Amino acid sequence: MEEQTRSEILKTIPYGFYITGVIGANGEANGFTTCWVSQVSFEPQQVIVAVRKDQHTHDLVESGGVFSLNFLDTAQEDLARKFTQTLEQENGAVGGSPYTPGEATGAPLFEEAFAHLECRVVDKMEGGDHTVYLGEVAAANLRRPADILTDLDTPMDYGG
Ligand SMILES: Cc1cc2nc3c(=O)[nH]c(=O)nc-3n(C[C@H](O)[C@H](O)[C@H](O)COP(=O)(O)O)c2cc1C
Repeated sequence: MEEQTRSEILKTIPYGFYITGVIGANGEANGFTTCWVSQVSFEPQQVIVAVRKDQHTHDLVESGGVFSLNFLDTAQEDLARKFTQTLEQENGAVGGSPYTPGEATGAPLFEEAFAHLECRVVDKMEGGDHTVYLGEVAAANLRRPADILTDLDTPMDYGG
């Protein structure tokens, strides 16, 4: 019973939705929908992202040492859903979503996102079934003003 209460309380933590863009040491680019993201330092500007250890994309962050955060807007729930599946890279796109490699890190910047941050992994820690990567912001790009998609806008959730 307490187990269920814990889950219900954890599910109330609000999150923004991003596609984390990754590129492995072998050059494979990919991305996945992510909501366990937070800024953790002003100077230098650093963020953390928690990546599930059994995911293919985990291996790509681990070997590549970089990631991008691609910010999704309130009309992009379908895109968020697409990137919860394992997708293939083909001709400068992942699952049909085009990207360009970030100039600072090479991590994919998805064209549909309204903003991008490029990050270099500077540390990591074990977080149970996830690895928590500490990324230092290396570049930023605002494509258009928008409001970020959050779990308050959609029935999609991650947590509990
Ligand atoms: C709403 C939502 C949020 C998610 N957030 C995260 C997250 O923060 N970290 C994570 O590792 N996976 C998260 N996922 C799961 C990944 O998006 C999913 O496992 C994806 O398929 C991983 O890509 P891969 O199979 O290509 O590695 C989330 C899924 C959903 C539905």
